[in-house]
Amino acid sequence: MGSKPDKAADLPSCDSWLVHCRAGYEGNCAAELTEYLHLRGVPAAYAMAARGEAWLRLVNPMPENGPDLATLVPDDAIFPRQIIPLWRWLEALPTADRVTAIIEALPAGRDFNGLQISYPDSNEGKSLGRLIKPLSVALRQGMRSRGITLERNGAPCLHLFFPDGRRVSIGHTRDDREPVGGVMRLRMPGAAPSRSTLKLDEAFRRLMGEEERGSLLSPGQRAVDLGAAPGGWTWQMVRRHIHVTAVDNGPMAPELMESGLVTHVRADGFTWRPERAVDWLLCDIVDKPARVGQRMSRWLVEGWTRHAVFNLKLPMKQAWPTVRDLLRQLREELAESRPTVVVRARHLYHDREEITVIALDKG
Ligand SMILES: C[S@@+](CC[C@H](N)C(=O)[O-])C[C@H]1O[C@@H](n2cnc3c(N)ncnc32)[C@H](O)[C@@H]1O
Repeated sequence: MGSKPDKAADLPSCDSWLVHCRAGYEGNCAAELTEYLHLRGVPAAYAMAARGEAWLRLVNPMPENGPDLATLVPDDAIFPRQIIPLWRWLEALPTADRVTAIIEALPAGRDFNGLQISYPDSNEGKSLGRLIKPLSVALRQGMRSRGITLERNGAPCLHLFFPDGRRVSIGHTRDDREPVGGVMRLRMPGAAPSRSTLKLDEAFRRLMGEEERGSLLSPGQRAVDLGAAPGGWTWQMVRRHIHVTAVDNGPMAPELMESGLVTHVRADGFTWRPERAVDWLLCDIVDKPARVGQRMSRWLVEGWTRHAVFNLKLPMKQAWPTVRDLLRQLREELAESRPTVVVRARHLYHDREEITVIALDKG
């Protein structure tokens, strides 16, 4: 067996966490994470965030026997797109030879299962893309020549994050299938009437497991789409052969209507209700989050729909406490009337100034 099996074990303790989020939401993301830690009795974690850079670093208050942030933060935490435990943070990388400096800073004698490289999802960060590609190739070669393998089953995936060309963090993720930086780029389907379609596509991928998608979304179901025009969300249902009542005073895309699966109703989405219960309620109306939240709650509590997906517009200030309180209220209302419904929410990659919420009846 030799020394190989040990090479993935005994990883160094994590001294901080790198967190990716949407640019402009660093403060809300830090507020959300420190609140989870506080609730679980972990001493205050210090967050370093620069507004607009789309990432922050949270210092682990107990680095030696410390907590695994991943176990303290719910899977559906809203603002963090990806959380990466860090071993090292290197400043002043030599630009002439970044590869050697990085390889020398890796935990000694360990193998990994995959390599992820991320950079900020901000305007400045995008220019780093050109540097990362050749660097990734050189790093892989350099590691191979030093006997470090990146194909070791069971080992963590090595994650390098470049805030800029001079600094890098070294950490790990559980596996290399996590979207890098939490960025889930989806191809815009040519036939979809609007880019909003990507939001619902991502919501189904990120907020539902594969098994749930298979069992809860099926051909022949019936859905209502409030604020449906021109039809990007409706299109996602139609392509799954689901019948949709599209409620909007605006026009629906004619090709979508030709599918024969869509009924267009010109009405107010805040007062319209179905004659009989449906499988899915979708709502992408841009309005006050409390107003949308109340209407969604009514649909679910009254049993007018089994499941729901909706957007909550984020207020300019205090986005985290606002959505936290709205979601708490929704969960409390459902706990009494529909205890089998689970509610998950996220600031998706394709969301901008809104978050996406899904309510699934698991009964
Ligand atoms: C962001 S767009 C929806 C985009 C749509 N989900 C898509 O994928 O193409 C919001 C829509 O909500 C509609 N809307 C706004 N207030 C509404 C209301 N009270 N009832 C119904 N629709 C409403 C607007 O007409 C607009 O078409």
